[in-house]
Amino acid sequence: MNPLALDLNEKLSNAKPEVADMLSDLGKLMYYPKGILSQSAEAKTTQYNATIGMATYKDSKMYADTLNEVFNHLEPDDIFPYAPPQGIESLRQLWTQKILKDNPDLAEKDISRPIVTNALTHGLSLVGDLFVNSQDTILLPEHNWGNYKLVYSTRHNAEIQTYSIFDEDGHYTTEALVRTLESYDKDKVILILNYPNNPTGYTPTKEEVAQIVEAIKGLAERGTNVIAVVDDAYYGLFYEDVYTQSIFTALTNLHLNNLLPIRLDGATKEFFAWGLRVGFLTFGINDDATKNVLEAKVKGLIRSNISSGPLPSQSAIKYVLENHETFDKEIQHNMETLQARYEVTKEVVYADKYTKFWQPYDFNSGYFMALQVKGVDPEALRIHLIDNYSIGIIALNDTDIRIAFSCVEKDDIPHVFDSIAQGIDDLQE
Ligand SMILES: Cc1ncc(COP(=O)(O)O)c(C=O)c1O
Repeated sequence: MNPLALDLNEKLSNAKPEVADMLSDLGKLMYYPKGILSQSAEAKTTQYNATIGMATYKDSKMYADTLNEVFNHLEPDDIFPYAPPQGIESLRQLWTQKILKDNPDLAEKDISRPIVTNALTHGLSLVGDLFVNSQDTILLPEHNWGNYKLVYSTRHNAEIQTYSIFDEDGHYTTEALVRTLESYDKDKVILILNYPNNPTGYTPTKEEVAQIVEAIKGLAERGTNVIAVVDDAYYGLFYEDVYTQSIFTALTNLHLNNLLPIRLDGATKEFFAWGLRVGFLTFGINDDATKNVLEAKVKGLIRSNISSGPLPSQSAIKYVLENHETFDKEIQHNMETLQARYEVTKEVVYADKYTKFWQPYDFNSGYFMALQVKGVDPEALRIHLIDNYSIGIIALNDTDIRIAFSCVEKDDIPHVFDSIAQGIDDLQE
């Protein structure tokens, strides 16, 4: 059991042993991780808070005006009735069109109609409910989003197995994934593919995607049932020449019976609408009977959990998809703002003067980049930066930190990295 869960249980046993006895097995196992959210909370008052998975200006969030004003345009019927568990049909259809536009290699007949989720985390959890049994293997890169552990390991008792996606020099490599898949010998695996990757901000190139897809194909052809969960939270935030369709498309186009691609995407990051909680779950499957059964099962899971998602948020996303001209320009503007920040970050972090302080991991997309820091403990550095430089970063593990350049104004980026270097210099032995 996680030490944080043990601690909570002990406190509850001391405070109200009767309630402690009432907890289910899952209730006993559950805890609130000391991860990104608590590190973010500690950095709340810093001048440069590069901890969070949002995009911000100095004094406000980065959003699209059309979406901000959308609630003035909605009718009571777009707000107050129940939405169906699977989401409003017009929105599902509009999102299908968006997926097909972004993924020209994908045919409509090869995908299910996207089911609306209460954003991506809900979709990940639904996948867990539908496909993950105790002791099943979840295959993840070592650099992954911490919440996968809570969703799959704590809730479903899955075994998380990791592989590295970077070589010693911090360059992206598919080698360890390919090797892991080649030697995998169980009859079922759940793969989570998250590109642009949180926390490193890397998206594979066309060639690298081809290598990944080939290795997954090989595993499926050897008989393993492969559930390939594509977490496309940061889809579209690409700043270099990478594979810009979803890897879901490449996997769906393999048309293998024992490979089930599932795409999770949504408005959260793509539309700069973190709090609206609109996401989508789509199966890469072309058989109508299977589509219908899977949809019915997901609907049952939603009905038995949140019953249905909020209608105002769904109507808002529907509105901007229908009235997209100005909205598209606003999103484009935000993307360009992030692209400019990315370019400055790239220019700054590879400077020779910093090589004694860190080694960057390859990055080319998304909100974040990660550094392997030299001669300091990332957690000690994190606290030191808050206390002495008013900078918030995330300590990822024993060696790495994550910086959200999406939350730092372009002109402040050189100062932030220079201060991180000074902070490391202060602490290095
Ligand atoms: C990789 C990844 N997946 C999923 C999510 C969750 O997205 P949502 O807020 O839509 O639940 C996040 C949010 O930070 C993320 O970084």
